[in-house]
Parts: sequence; structure tokens; C-alpha cells
Amino acid sequence: METIQYNLPQSRIPQAWYNIAADLPTPMAPALHPGTLQPLGPDDLAPLFPMSLILQEVSTEREIEIPGEVRQVYAQWRPAPLFRARRLEKALDTPARIYYKYEGASPAGSHKLNTAVPQAYYNKMEGTKHLATETGAGQWGSSLAMACGFFGLDCKVFMVRCSYDQKPYRRALMEAFGASVTPSPSRETESGRAILAVHPNSNGSLGIAISEAVEVAAKDPHTKYALGSVLNHVLLHQTVIGLEAIEQMELAGDEPDVIIACAGGGSNFAGLAMPYLGRKLKGLSHARVVAVEPAACPSLTKGKFLYDFGDTAHLTPLMKMHTLGSTFMPPGIHAGGLRYHGMGPLVSHVASLGLIEAATVQQLDAFAAGIQFARAEAIVPAPESNHAIAHAIREALEAREEGKSRTILFNLSGHGHFDMQSYIDYQAGKLENYDYPGEEIAMALAGLPSVS
Ligand SMILES: Cc1ncc(COP(=O)(O)O)c(C=O)c1O
Repeated sequence: METIQYNLPQSRIPQAWYNIAADLPTPMAPALHPGTLQPLGPDDLAPLFPMSLILQEVSTEREIEIPGEVRQVYAQWRPAPLFRARRLEKALDTPARIYYKYEGASPAGSHKLNTAVPQAYYNKMEGTKHLATETGAGQWGSSLAMACGFFGLDCKVFMVRCSYDQKPYRRALMEAFGASVTPSPSRETESGRAILAVHPNSNGSLGIAISEAVEVAAKDPHTKYALGSVLNHVLLHQTVIGLEAIEQMELAGDEPDVIIACAGGGSNFAGLAMPYLGRKLKGLSHARVVAVEPAACPSLTKGKFLYDFGDTAHLTPLMKMHTLGSTFMPPGIHAGGLRYHGMGPLVSHVASLGLIEAATVQQLDAFAAGIQFARAEAIVPAPESNHAIAHAIREALEAREEGKSRTILFNLSGHGHFDMQSYIDYQAGKLENYDYPGEEIAMALAGLPSVS
């Protein structure tokens, strides 16, 4: 029998997260206070986050120990499986060897639980009672809802309006875990009301939902804010993915030539890629690393690498990142988790250093790849993950054309069991591609804050 899964025992759940900041050839630009334009200090972030997470955000220690209680919760689903996609390889008739790390095996259905658990844990340790957050597709919201349930915190989720309508079962899942869910933009916050005054039928966006959650946290001393991507501490928590994958690829006796993940704010990408980039910086890996984003929201491939706000209402600090402009409202593609105007500053930084590549995929190509993958591998992927699959298939077909083998490793960031309506719509021919919305992006970029 040919081996399909390369799995680790529970004792191999990583003991520490890997922080690439310790190994970067040049440090990242600091986040800036939006009023003074000076680098942020830990106290500036204290109304929003517990101090342990703020310190992780700016840490340059290579390894940050994972608390025992967090590892214990990780043990519900980690180590996550690594699959060799032998049936997909055959279907593509490619000499490439394709592997995928499957984060959809988590109880929430994606990688997001990897950071939801430590975020809830550190908040609990520092006395937080309530957490407010945003969610796009609902993967992050359901992860935080579960994690808050584990640690006895209240959870309030602002869910991007178009996903709220497209994915009612995600909302039900969040509520099953005890969270309250509000479609965003809402009338509950000043930021939401301001958007609705101009766009009464707004689809919403991650940028708007972030503004609403940040506003709620900033106004209530008992409420903190939790973010599902973008920030350094979130990307740090996701490195369990790559740390496990390195050991699993060793079990498979193989070494990736190319590493692929979809990128919204950059967290599942960083989770797989950063431990490998750390090895690459030490000369221990030769892998090319590719971040894949939707053609409708191409921050890495078409955005500018400049300081911008993380949200639409401009309540967050300024971060240097690849951005399409914080007022840009991406088209309502079904990969809701990829509808973010910016890219995480750490991912943007390694892109600016030329350490990674970026590629785009159109919505219909993403779904075609997802269906092809499902028929071969028996897992229906999340629409976001389909972007990584589409690019992995491109690489495998290139290998076939060249008649050369190559080892492809990609992150299957989540399953699509709550996204079946989007598959129904795709099969019925109701989905469309979106051309790069150049004019709207140019307008949003024209409004970028000027920071020298
Ligand atoms: C399954 C899945 N993959 C990928 C993403 C993109 O987010 P990130 O870039 O932070 O991994 C999301 C976001 O919601 C998601 O739910």
C-alpha cells in the first residue's frame, strides 16, 4: 500500500512557536500611532490587547514557548495530518509529488483555531471578560467562539454582511458555541452607521467589520479585541503548521521545491511558510514560496507597500504593508476570508525583501480547482483554500510540461462544508470572475495617509 498520510504522535505538538523576526536580514518597519505618527509603544495597544500578546507582537525572540494549557487544547486536533495527494497527481498525470497540510481537520474547520486558542487563553489569564472580533467567511468567528467557550469568555462577532447572507450555518455554529453575531456594517457602532449612511446596501468588508469590533473594545474597559490574521502575534501562533510540516516531510523522505498557501491577511500562509523561510535563510531549504490571492483583491501583486490603516474607519494603528487602500471594498467573492485590503506587515516585509513570490487566481478557476481536488482527494476545500490548490495545480502541470518532477507542498487551510451554497452556485453557473477593480483601487490608494 502506498502511504497517503504522514502523521506525528501527539507528543510532537510543537513546544514553541517560531518567530522569524529573530532571523530576518532587515527588521520590519514599526507600526505607527495614527495621531503622532511615532512608533507605537506597548501601552498604546493596551486598551485592545492583553500585554502578553502585545509583547509577542514586538518580540524578536526566536522561540516563544506555547503554554501547557494551550498545547492541551491543541491536542484536540493537532498535530494536523499531512497528505500526499497521490490521487490528484494521477488525475493530473504529473511527475510532480504533491503534499498538503490539512488544517481543515480542526474542530472549527480551519487553521484559525491555532491562534484563537492562545488569544482566548492570554486574555483569560489577564482578566478579560469579553472579546469582540470581526469575521469574513465565518471561519475565524467560529474559531474564536469555540476558544472563548473553552476559556469561559463572552464573544461578540461582527460578520461581514455578504458572508452573513451567504453562510447562515457558520453563524449558527458561532451561536452554538455561545457567541453573538451581528452583520456588519451594523447600526450598533458609529463606524457602521457612518458606512450605512453612504452605502445603505453595503456588502461589508473585513476592514469595516474590524472598525466595528475595535470601536466596541475601545469603548468598554471589560472588552478586548481579537484579530484573526494580519498581526505578528497571530502569524506567530500559526507557525505550528510549518513546524509540524517540516517533521512530516522528513517522515515522507521528501523536501519541498515549492511551498504554496492562499493569503488573505497572511496567517495560514505565514504559518506554513515562515518556518521554511527560517530554514531557507540558514541555507537549509531551497524552496520557492508562493502566496496566492484572489484576482479581485490583489494586495500583494497590485497593492503599494506603504503605511496604511488596518480598518476602514481608521481606528487602528498605521502599518507598513501591501495595501489596496483601506477604503477599498473588494467585490463579494465567495472566498470571504481573502477580501481584505491589506496584507499582513510581516508577509509584506518578506515580499519586499524578495523572499517570497505572489500569484493571483480568478474565482471560477479557484472553484474549478476545488472541484477537481474534491473528486480526487475526497475533501471539499474552503473557497479560500481553492486559491492555493489552483496554484498547486498550475505548478504540477508546469512540471508535466517540463517532464521533470518537483515537490509541491501546499496548505489546505480549511474545509468547505459550510460553504456548500457557493459550490451550488458555482455548479449552477451563477458565479463570475471579477476583473481587477483598477479604478476603485486607484481611488482608495489616492487616499493613503502620507507618512514619510
Ligand atoms: C479557510 C481559510 N483560509 C484562508 C483564510 C485567509 O486568511 P489568512 O490569510 O489569515 O490565512 C481564511 C480567512 O478567513 C480562511 O477561513
